Amino acid sequence: MHRKEDARFLRGHGTYVDDVTLPGMLHGAVLRSPYAHAKIVSIDTSAAEAHPKVRAVITGETLAGLNLAWMPTLSGDVQAVLATDKVRFQGQEVAFVVAEDRYSARDALELIDVDYEALEPVVDARKALDEDAPVIRDDLEGRTDNHIFDWETGDAARTDEVFANAEVVTTQDMLYPRVHPAPLETCGSVADMDPITGKLTIWTTTQAPHAHRTLYALVAGLPEHKIRVISPDIGGGFGNKVGIYPGYVCSVVGSIVTGKPVKWIEDRSENLMSTSFARDYHMHGEIASTKDGKILAIRVKVLADHGAFNGTAQPTKYPAGFFGVFTGSYDIEAAHASVTGVYTNKAPGGVAYACSFRITEAVYLVERLVDVLAYDLDMDPAQLRMKNLLKPDQFPYQSKTGWEYDSGDYPRTLRMALDLAHYDELRMEQAKRRDAGELMGIGVAFFTEAVGAGPRKHMDILGLGMADGAELRVHPTGKAVLRLSVQSQGQGHETTFAQIVAEELGISPDDIDVVHGDTDQTPFGLGTYGSRSTPVSGAATAVVARKVRERAKIVASAMLEVSPDDLEWEKGRWFVKGDPAAGKSIQDIAMAAHSSLELPEGVEGQLDATCVYNPPNLTYPFGAYVCVVDVDAETGQVKVRDFVAVDDCGVRINPMIVEGQVHGGLADGVGMALMQVMAFDEDGNHLGGSFMDYLLPTSMECPSWRLGETVTPSPHHPIGAKGVGESATVGSPAAVVNAVLDALKPYGVRHADMPLTPAAVWSAAQGRPFRT
Ligand code: CDP
Repeated sequence: MHRKEDARFLRGHGTYVDDVTLPGMLHGAVLRSPYAHAKIVSIDTSAAEAHPKVRAVITGETLAGLNLAWMPTLSGDVQAVLATDKVRFQGQEVAFVVAEDRYSARDALELIDVDYEALEPVVDARKALDEDAPVIRDDLEGRTDNHIFDWETGDAARTDEVFANAEVVTTQDMLYPRVHPAPLETCGSVADMDPITGKLTIWTTTQAPHAHRTLYALVAGLPEHKIRVISPDIGGGFGNKVGIYPGYVCSVVGSIVTGKPVKWIEDRSENLMSTSFARDYHMHGEIASTKDGKILAIRVKVLADHGAFNGTAQPTKYPAGFFGVFTGSYDIEAAHASVTGVYTNKAPGGVAYACSFRITEAVYLVERLVDVLAYDLDMDPAQLRMKNLLKPDQFPYQSKTGWEYDSGDYPRTLRMALDLAHYDELRMEQAKRRDAGELMGIGVAFFTEAVGAGPRKHMDILGLGMADGAELRVHPTGKAVLRLSVQSQGQGHETTFAQIVAEELGISPDDIDVVHGDTDQTPFGLGTYGSRSTPVSGAATAVVARKVRERAKIVASAMLEVSPDDLEWEKGRWFVKGDPAAGKSIQDIAMAAHSSLELPEGVEGQLDATCVYNPPNLTYPFGAYVCVVDVDAETGQVKVRDFVAVDDCGVRINPMIVEGQVHGGLADGVGMALMQVMAFDEDGNHLGGSFMDYLLPTSMECPSWRLGETVTPSPHHPIGAKGVGESATVGSPAAVVNAVLDALKPYGVRHADMPLTPAAVWSAAQGRPFRT
């Protein structure tokens, strides 16, 4: 089925936050710090206030008067809305100007005079815990260092024992660089506080409208029923739009102060410099095996750079997200990981960029380690994986770090990918090319994701459990409206969720409207990220449709004057068992449910139903990827020649949409592997503030993806679906990096860090370490 929402998107009729225009609307702009670390001595706003078109200038001091100078982060830390004492990263929010138009607001920023006293910044996370490192968070009482947390998982003693007795131990340091979700649409908001009704309406770029509303209520002390958060069409989120940014809060304060609606829309540089980054994990990995390649254990130490405020997004119990799945897709005896989080003078974040909470880091780590092990053992990396993959009869599989993988036939999926790629022929071609002095590489990666956060007893964000609601209303004529808590950012929910109802009730998807992104119109839930929409709200949708079906059964029994037990369902109608002609369509039943038909005692009439879905477990999509690259030995330029991706996301609701999701994720992977890093100089200056510096992959860098699929339904989902939105972003970077390093094997290169830019590849081939 084609995407229902494309009718408006392709004609340019989407409504994004910047399309919202209200009568009397004013415009806000943020003044940002030029320093990574500096004391604020004074802020003089008088000249800006004197600008004829300026209506208000808001500083940290203004906010402090409202108790809003600091706000909670998603990780229970606090973040400055507007800096009062110090600035802690370049690009940090210092003041907010509200003016009659966007240009005047920006012009007036230049009139604000801030006196800074520069401080030494902490740029390198590896130096953050040095004795003499400047303390970044001296706002936190008693704080004398830059340490945030230590967290560990697995069995350290058992892992050490297996390592001590192992025939082979392979070790590799690797960095998952700081990258950015870089959605096409930047962040923004339009806040409108109605002074008469006291109702605050915020149109905003959020992946989690309900969670935002609750946070606004808790932080600002506003009554929750007087806050309406509307997340209209969203031009990509990828984790970037999960948190609450200072600009959103400032637009609300701007509206309260001026009594007018205030719009704030970030520009590209602001988005790249100040909104949530992803990754920045310095990982030390070890893998133990037998001489013939049976993997026994994995041990990991991570240093996590969280920036100036701990704004990482993940369920509360998991400060390193779902990094615990670093054991990958392999049958091993023991595992242990420890993660230490530190503050640095960089933008806060650590969001799950197209990833279920740090799984991308975990998958990259294990898939690189397996390749390094193959290198050390001189084994074929595909064979090494095949030898160690979990077998179908091991599911449900309890991992050594406590995760229950739901279902899978991993060897079948890997075999399919190798066949589609013509792996054996590729290796023969590679041998010939190597003889001719050409650099060709073949990279294999296998991943398991854990998506659909999550079971309420284990998972919450800031105390809010991760269950999601769904409401299904069936009108008298049999047309339906489904209301959801999740929020599409381009994934096609209006189509796929209608398809789920259609499949369950036999109503055409064209007759089902999906409403989302408006807290006044939809049930509570935690929103869309970590590929959780299908595993959680998709399940809620199936359950609520089944409830409607059961209600319809009772109405049909009254219509047909038989007991409900005598009825049988076929898609779209209930009929009398053994008499298929005696039946009623769902449309007839809907009309009857609203009519004067006498219903059995206790039956209220109408078919509408609601549900709150608390997932029993995460779902575990997986996949096997093969990447083929050619590397120019003279320049280090990498060309991705071919890419085969076989994904298993259980039952596919809309195969075309799934393919689109996979294509996007694969492109992300090429970007991260070959060209993307948020770099900083030694003063903490941000070096990636535009798309000239922070590169996005285009069709020029991407091959024509070749996809395959296997389908292993999840036993924990009513229709057997697993999430897929982020699978390809998770699995593909390792495949691309493995391919490039495979190409460099003749030079004896065992590892090089992403991004594998031409300079990095060339340096690696020359045997020189390269640091971006
Ligand atoms: O949470 P998010 O929407 O980003 O990720 P998702 O739940 O994996 O879904 C991405 C898109 O793919 C949605 O439109 C899903 O309904 C669709 N999908 C599907 O058609 N079949 C699946 N098994 C999984 C997702």
